This record gives sequence, structure tokens and C-alpha cells, in this order.
Amino acid sequence: MIKADVGSVSGHTTVHPQQLEVARQFMEDARAKGTISDYYVTHAGDDLELIMTHTMGEDHTSIHELAWKCFKEVTDKVSKPLKLYAAGQDLLSEAFSGNVKGMGPGVAELEFMERESDPVMIFMADKTEPGAWNLPLFKIFADPFNTAGLIIDPGLHGGFNFTVLDVVDNIAVSLKCPSEMYDLLALIGTPGRYVIEKVHRSDGLPAAAASTTRLSLIAGRYVGKDDPVCIVRAQHGLPAAGEVLEAFIFPHLVAGWMRGSHHGPLMPVSADDSQNRVSRFDGPPRVVGLGFQVSDAKLIGPTDLFADPAFDRTRETAGMVADYMRLHGPFMPHRLGPEEMEYTTLPEVLKKLKDRFKKV
Ligand code: F6R
Ligand code: MG
Ligand code: MG
Repeated sequence: MIKADVGSVSGHTTVHPQQLEVARQFMEDARAKGTISDYYVTHAGDDLELIMTHTMGEDHTSIHELAWKCFKEVTDKVSKPLKLYAAGQDLLSEAFSGNVKGMGPGVAELEFMERESDPVMIFMADKTEPGAWNLPLFKIFADPFNTAGLIIDPGLHGGFNFTVLDVVDNIAVSLKCPSEMYDLLALIGTPGRYVIEKVHRSDGLPAAAASTTRLSLIAGRYVGKDDPVCIVRAQHGLPAAGEVLEAFIFPHLVAGWMRGSHHGPLMPVSADDSQNRVSRFDGPPRVVGLGFQVSDAKLIGPTDLFADPAFDRTRETAGMVADYMRLHGPFMPHRLGPEEMEYTTLPEVLKKLKDRFKKV
């Protein structure tokens, strides 16, 4: 999965149908040429999402270049001519330089041998950052109160290994669960810095991958939230699809929302609600889930995973939490802390006051 916000309609609300058309044609041509095996183009709010299957492995230049060129083409053919808002926003470099990581787009890649039947779930968030996956990924792969299979299925008893990236110093550590669970939690409880990048079953089977791009850390200024994506394989010796989804029943607080500067609840929504209705206070942060079968590298599906009315209560709670958080207005902890605000326009405001402070 490679994704980017390259401009949207009505501020940061939604992508334009012509953007999707251009991206689909681009992917169709790449499939015809054999660069990719299959694709699914969609969007989560203002983020254009390219779901691709291919056989060239992770971090392959041809695939990264394909995505980069696709985003460029959408920007040049649609976003700019239609004067869409923030046209080309996430394309932080002029020219492609081998790998889109560090150039703005978000990337989540997972290389695996197809099992006899391989359900793959794709999660796409809008108005939040990669650390938003920390809590659900922990619940899915390490919390027996969420995932019954961790207790019931001997195939899961070996536990899972989490690769955690420190996005500030760009270093990574691998931690085993359950034996190193407390160490893991000591890190991932700081989601602005420590981000789960990969999860493998104890025998090495690839189970999940998440995008880790922090746009502000690349650009050194506020660009837009990273709006991360995540790939999770399910069933048959992995958490069941329903156990994966159960981790989203709690609309936990994440950083993002208005101006990327506020904490708000992560609301699981249907595809339609993720695509066309990201409006209240430019949010609130939300996640959409699409379920596929990967079959000879073809994408079969998708199903709209959070359209189930069983998530209505979660959405209602998210609405209540959103109201409660909004009542704080400009105060923390609704507004993010000073460390996170460094990459917004707030420091410029504070700079104006600097000379007016007197010694006491
Ligand atoms: C959130 C986001 C928006 C903008 C906000 C102000 O990721 O991008 O909330 O930050 O709409 O945008 P500008 O400063 O362009 O008017
Ligand atoms: Mg945007
Ligand atoms: Mg977005």
C-alpha cells in the first residue's frame, strides 16, 4: 500500500472522482505491462490509496516509482487544473529518488508466501498519525482479552514479535510478546515517537505492516497529518478477522484532527463515511477497513468491514468523546502538547510575544 494526499475538494474533505479515474487508469496500465499483479484504488477522506500486489518484494524501486508517478500524474492532470485544495501536498520532493519512503507518501509493505487461503485486511486512517495503530495492533496480537485465539488456538501460543520504530532517531527494535510485553508497552505508549512497523508470528510468519511516515519530521514543518495505513493478515494460525476488528471497538484518543493539532477519538466507519464525510472540525479522526482474499496475487473483494451496525455504539461513544474533547477548546490535552506543536504554526505566534516577557 502506498498512499498520499495530493489535493482534495472542499478543503481537506474528500478526493475528486477524476483523481480516482486517473489513478485507476495508471494502475490498469501498470497491470497490463505486468509491473503489478493487481490493484485496488480507493480513498480515505482526502487520501488517495493505492493497494497493489506484485512479486518483486518490499522496497522495490519500480513499485515505488510507479506510485510516485501515479501521484504526480493525478496532481498534474486533476488536482492542479481543478485548483483542488493542497494540490500535490504530500509530494515533498521534486524528483523521485529510488524509494518513496522519506519523500512524503505513506508506505506499508508485507511480503509473504500465499497460504492456501489468505484473508488480508487493509486499514486506512484519516486525520491522524502512524502511532494511532499502536493500541489496536497491540490488542490484536498481544491482548488475550481482545483475541480469544491467543488462549484457545495452540497456533497462536508462541506469541508475536513486534518491530518498533523510533521515528525521531530512525532506529528500530524487535520485541517478543508475551515475554517482553512490558518493554513493548513502555515504548508504544508514546505513539508520537515509537511506532509499530511490523508484526511477525513467533515462527517468522509475516502478520502485519504499518506505514510510519511522519510528514512533519521529514519536512521540518506542519504539512498535513500522515494519515497512516496498515495491512493485517488474518485466520488460520493468526487472529481471526473478527478478532482483528474487535480491537477497534474502543475509539481511543489519537493525535491529529483539526490542523493536526488535537487529540480526538479514532472512529471506525464504513467506506462511504470515511470517503465523503470527514467534516466535523476537519474530522474527527477515523479508520475504514477493507477485507480482501489474496488469491494468486489477485485481490478478491473488498468487504466494508466497519459497515456492521455492531460498530454503531463505538461511533456513538466517539461522538460523545469528540464533544467532550472539543469543550476544552484551545486547552491541552485536547490541543497537543508543546513538543508536538513545534511542527505547527503555533511557534510563530509565540515568537511574537518573546520580547514582551520581562524578568521577574
Ligand atoms: C488536517 C488538516 C486540516 C488543516 C486545516 C487548516 O490534517 O490538514 O485540518 O490543517 O484545514 O488548513 P490551512 O492552514 O491550509 O487553511
Ligand atoms: Mg489533507
Ligand atoms: Mg488526510
